Amino acid sequence: MNQRYFFLAAAGLLTALAAAPATAQNAALDARIAKLAAAEEAKVIAWRRDLHEHPELGNQETRTAGIIAAHLKSLGLEVQTGVARTGVVGILKGGKPGPVVALRADMDALPVTEKNELPFASKARTQYNGQEVGVMHACGHDTHVAMLMGAAEVLSQVKKDLPGTIKFIFQPAEEGSLPGEEGGAKLMVKQGVLDNPKVDAIFGVHINAQTEVGTLKYRPGGEMASSDVFTIKVKGKSAHGAYPWLSVDPVVTASQIVLGLQTIISRQTLLTEDAAVITVGMIHGGVRNNIIPDQVELTGTIRTLNKDMQRKIWEDIRRTATGIAASAGATAEVDIVNYAPVTYNDLKLTDKMLPSLRTAAGSADKVVLQKAVTGAEDFAFFQEKVPGLFVFVGGMTKGTDPATTGPHHTPGFRIDESGLTLGVTTLATLAADYLTAKK
Ligand code: NI
Repeated sequence: MNQRYFFLAAAGLLTALAAAPATAQNAALDARIAKLAAAEEAKVIAWRRDLHEHPELGNQETRTAGIIAAHLKSLGLEVQTGVARTGVVGILKGGKPGPVVALRADMDALPVTEKNELPFASKARTQYNGQEVGVMHACGHDTHVAMLMGAAEVLSQVKKDLPGTIKFIFQPAEEGSLPGEEGGAKLMVKQGVLDNPKVDAIFGVHINAQTEVGTLKYRPGGEMASSDVFTIKVKGKSAHGAYPWLSVDPVVTASQIVLGLQTIISRQTLLTEDAAVITVGMIHGGVRNNIIPDQVELTGTIRTLNKDMQRKIWEDIRRTATGIAASAGATAEVDIVNYAPVTYNDLKLTDKMLPSLRTAAGSADKVVLQKAVTGAEDFAFFQEKVPGLFVFVGGMTKGTDPATTGPHHTPGFRIDESGLTLGVTTLATLAADYLTAKK
């Protein structure tokens, strides 16, 4: 977030705090939605348990897609399958003309072996990257699918009062595709999921295992980080380890580069504006104790919360790596690839929808401004094309210490299902309020 955005965000927050409650028409519709969502609870939990017991890795979500498509068809929606491999898109036309709003849920599970003792715990196993692994919904995408199926049912029951169209996007492979494989939100966008009819705004939710049931969390602007992978090939000259003066030692040079990269964050980045991270996760080079190799490869990740900072850090990495290498008489080839952009909540849209979040949660103090997250989320690819808002929904039992609950992506990850109804209400309320809002 640059300085200007910070002030806009702060100003936006103040405006939102002073915003009038929903219009009478919205209030009646929102109340109906809350009631219908509550009535969906048993179904949503049943869907979630079934999906949890039968998790599928990214780009393989065929069973999941079948369940979603059958449900959307039963509601009378226009359904497309096989979008970005295994994705499903449903279109609900309201009773009156109006804008187009999209709601998104991700569908994929992770190569994690479940350790929870639950009647519907996953026993699934599969091959991943040449290894046999367990498969588990260890990030809660099972709850996302179930909540969006519930929201589709709720919204189809009020469709005659909706001015506009709702696109339900069930997205595969949020956790990433295998090397060389395309997938996820990026492929959906490339295939035109935001066109025909053209989407005006998009909303998504993520369950959170460390946030109490009943709470929503959001952040205007950079909410989750962009994720870039960098590779630095340090090329020197090989020699016997006993005669280093005959070499250009890429091990020592690469070590200096690792430390130099850390000074980009600590000495050259405006940390009061936004957080940023550079992590070197791999150092590869050499085959034997007494041979200086001719090359060392460094690989790592970059996390940033705004585009300007991202671009600057890319330049800083190139300059630091090539400069340090040159000082040693070596060379450094730097390659940086973006995996996900910043999950950036449009400031105007966030401001406009904040009252809807409060309506859904039932009170303003259940809607919490959260700190930026340096994890990434591929919802960002949709937000690059249209204004979007991504909200966290509490999935932790009230009164629990977050430090004792299984984190996302681990074998002990678990969700308190009593939090799911708020997710359904939030998705449906955001869509209905967006369509019925005064332009
Ligand atoms: Ni996730």
